[in-house]
Amino acid sequence: MTAIPVLETDGISDGNFRIIAGIAKSYAGISLSEKKKSLVYSRICRRVRQEGFGCFDEYCAFLMSEAGSDERQHLVSALTTNVTSFYREKHHFSYLESLLRQQLYGRFERGEELRIWSAACSSGEEAYSIAMTVIKCLSTIPHLKAKILATDIDSDVLQQARLGSYASIEAEALFEDGVLTSCRLEDDRVVMSEKIREMIRFRRLNLVEPWPFSSCFHAIFCRNVAIYFDRETQDRLWGNLSARIFPGGELYLGHSERIAHPERFGMESFGHNAYRKVSSGRRRS
Ligand SMILES: C[S@@+](CC[C@H](N)C(=O)[O-])C[C@H]1O[C@@H](n2cnc3c(N)ncnc32)[C@H](O)[C@@H]1O
Repeated sequence: MTAIPVLETDGISDGNFRIIAGIAKSYAGISLSEKKKSLVYSRICRRVRQEGFGCFDEYCAFLMSEAGSDERQHLVSALTTNVTSFYREKHHFSYLESLLRQQLYGRFERGEELRIWSAACSSGEEAYSIAMTVIKCLSTIPHLKAKILATDIDSDVLQQARLGSYASIEAEALFEDGVLTSCRLEDDRVVMSEKIREMIRFRRLNLVEPWPFSSCFHAIFCRNVAIYFDRETQDRLWGNLSARIFPGGELYLGHSERIAHPERFGMESFGHNAYRKVSSGRRRS
């Protein structure tokens, strides 16, 4: 078979597209239709060049080999976006505030541990925004026990997240009334405080593989990741997420994600891309 030169202008061959789409699906649940062929070409071309492969055939053969496991992760990274920001889709942080202040405050006052999951956290802004919301709402509780789990499939973004240091120009949303809370300015960077960082555990986790824990959460942020999955994978994800939310707890999804018939998963819709776990007694389906 003749190798296709990387810089070929007529794009990626059907065979190589099928290989890449197959790996993206089996490795990360990412669904790539034929319509995405030119996008895949442009994203992967950069990667093929950077890594010094002579052509797509060579790259695909490496991806499929045992030695290609790290590259499969880079492939997913190239095919998805890590775009995120502090307090992105702000309404979810208002829902979280109400949940903590109005529904659950007494339970944490009585010593229950608060647990929140930022699933697909990217470079960490979402998890830190959750932590700051928790401090804002529950700082009056002495000895508050609060844990935030923040996970992503991409180890590189997790590395950035753990540093907790962001260019101040990207952290504008943290200056409330011109004042920085829960973080400090160092040169032109905003650095998260120890108190905030101690609350969060960053871990690598693939949402479409079995999860290595069985604990439940009071709220889960799973935003702007399910858009990459097909309907069947999304449905499996909704069921798994619902099983990890305490009755009365909440699930927040990204702006273009929604659960059709949430009652199938024991949930009800209550706001913009927001769902509440119905207690078993109230479940309708
Ligand atoms: C657009 S970012 C979303 C960040 C944040 N949740 C937000 O809404 O601002 C999408 C993230 O999903 C992650 N991702 C893609 N497939 C994944 C999978 N199968 N399991 C876990 N994370 C995945 C990507 O690495 C990326 O960091």
